[in-house]
Amino acid sequence: MISVLSGIQPSGDLHVGNYLGALRNWVAHQHDNDAFYCIVDLHALTLEIGPDELRSRTFDTALNLLAVGLDPGACTLFVQSQVPEHPRLAWLLECTTSMGELRRMTHFKDKGGGQESVRVGLFTYPVLQAADILLYDAGRVPVGEDQRQHLELTRELAIRFNHRYGDTFVVPEAAVPGVGARVMDLQHPERKMSKSVDSPLGIINVFDDPAEIERKVKRAVTDTDGEVRFDPEEKPGVANLLALLAAATDRLPADVAKGYERYGDLKDDVAAALVELLAPLRARRLELLAEPSVVEAALRDGAARAHEVASATYARAAGAIGLLA
Ligand code: TYM
Repeated sequence: MISVLSGIQPSGDLHVGNYLGALRNWVAHQHDNDAFYCIVDLHALTLEIGPDELRSRTFDTALNLLAVGLDPGACTLFVQSQVPEHPRLAWLLECTTSMGELRRMTHFKDKGGGQESVRVGLFTYPVLQAADILLYDAGRVPVGEDQRQHLELTRELAIRFNHRYGDTFVVPEAAVPGVGARVMDLQHPERKMSKSVDSPLGIINVFDDPAEIERKVKRAVTDTDGEVRFDPEEKPGVANLLALLAAATDRLPADVAKGYERYGDLKDDVAAALVELLAPLRARRLELLAEPSVVEAALRDGAARAHEVASATYARAAGAIGLLA
């Protein structure tokens, strides 16, 4: 059985980019695979966040992941910091990674690379991510388009380690969806939808109520030529709406474009499709809010199971590199 691992930052809210780009695939992979899903609280420390906020967001993220469809009976959902092998393996990998490799990471460049005050953890972030993946012998990593570069680095580090110290790690592959892999901000369709950017009208959250979804879709930026066709370069706003509708209804954006004369009609259908797709997730979340012990139990069991697997892989890697048992 192929193993799957993926991770998400504990930012509390989930947006439709997270869902269509990654989480939907997490849910799809959980039954036919040995699947591990990690809330990466250690990664969250690379940017400013207070202790109370970190604690509550980590818990909320777990609850939200169960609401979108993760089943603790089928997959292992856990918090990164509760499995100490993550930073331990990251150290071994850091000692096989060059500064040049990390300087090339767009994530670092986007989030403050170059400034003297930037945190060292932000620089080494992708190595910790590689450790997350390699600890679980994951063959497949369901992620959105923006994580491809990190996946490439992970593959590179795994291949290098295996070559230097003998076969130790499974070399993973990214599983990126054909449609929805890069959902753009509705107000700024030239940049990706991102929770780290303040854009109240540009981001649709998975648990927004139907009226909010309709309002945001109606206000989405389009263009003035009035023609509905899928052209991400020339018509990023319209292309994003088409991609959202296609992803929500399992079709292709170019096919979806056929038959629309007016942006207004397209927007109505986008809003309706998102409302329908997200309604059951919203309902499940309301149920879970009333039973926090379900979330606590999932995380407790998840940490124990993850630790079992991660400690065996760490021991293998530590032995291979020459640390005493
Ligand atoms: P994060 O928390 O930013 O995002 C979680 C997942 O959502 C996807 N995603 C998107 N997909 C489509 N359109 C968007 N606008 C969009 N925004 C986000 C991301 O691609 C991701 O799959 N570094 C990772 C977390 C991480 C990780 C890992 C992932 C840590 N360790 C190991 C995979 C494996 C991150 O910051 O994701």
